[in-house]
Amino acid sequence: MRVGRVLVSAEEIEARLAEMGAEITADYAGKDLLLVAVLKGAFMVMADLSRHIALPVDLDFMAVSSYGEATKTSGVVRILKDLDREIAGRHVLIVEDIVDSGLTLQYLRRNLEVRRPASLEIATLLLKRGLQVAPTTVRYVGFEIPPDFVIGYGLDYLGRYRNLPCVAVMEEGEEEGWEGTAASGP
Ligand code: IMP
Ligand code: MG
Repeated sequence: MRVGRVLVSAEEIEARLAEMGAEITADYAGKDLLLVAVLKGAFMVMADLSRHIALPVDLDFMAVSSYGEATKTSGVVRILKDLDREIAGRHVLIVEDIVDSGLTLQYLRRNLEVRRPASLEIATLLLKRGLQVAPTTVRYVGFEIPPDFVIGYGLDYLGRYRNLPCVAVMEEGEEEGWEGTAASGP
């Protein structure tokens, strides 16, 4: 497998995260906001989105893994790393790379809601069209994309390609680098 068509360029990601950050800044002004990123995929979104939020936010990380195939979600989620602290009474914003079936988020939402946060919302860079369980529960969406398997900007295929600066479709073929291609940017 290798890097195929570029779906969202690095520049488009940066511009959209700036807009989302401004929106989040306005919505949470004066509130105690905790950003929770879901590792590993969301590490890139967390780093870039948080720098567009002009509030002294707190950050925490969770690591989950879904059992099953490499390119499909089974809906069975295992918590590998839980939050460091309690979230009761705090405004929590989950930061995600992608919502596909929505099963991972559905699980996370239920798991965090019983801890009684003041509010619980979700921000995702990507939302796959037509596959979500409950799309209305995602408050901030970067881009809606077709239901192809994508890689880059945190998203992996068998643990690799997370460092690709853009979001691209996986394609059949010999694995190779992306220097000098559309995936590496201008
Ligand atoms: P869900 O189907 O919404 O539960 O997605 C679960 C997880 O599967 C996401 O958080 C990603 O880590 C991963 N995932 C879903 N779609 C893709 C994709 O197109 N590329 C890479 N990872 C994906
Ligand atoms: Mg993954």
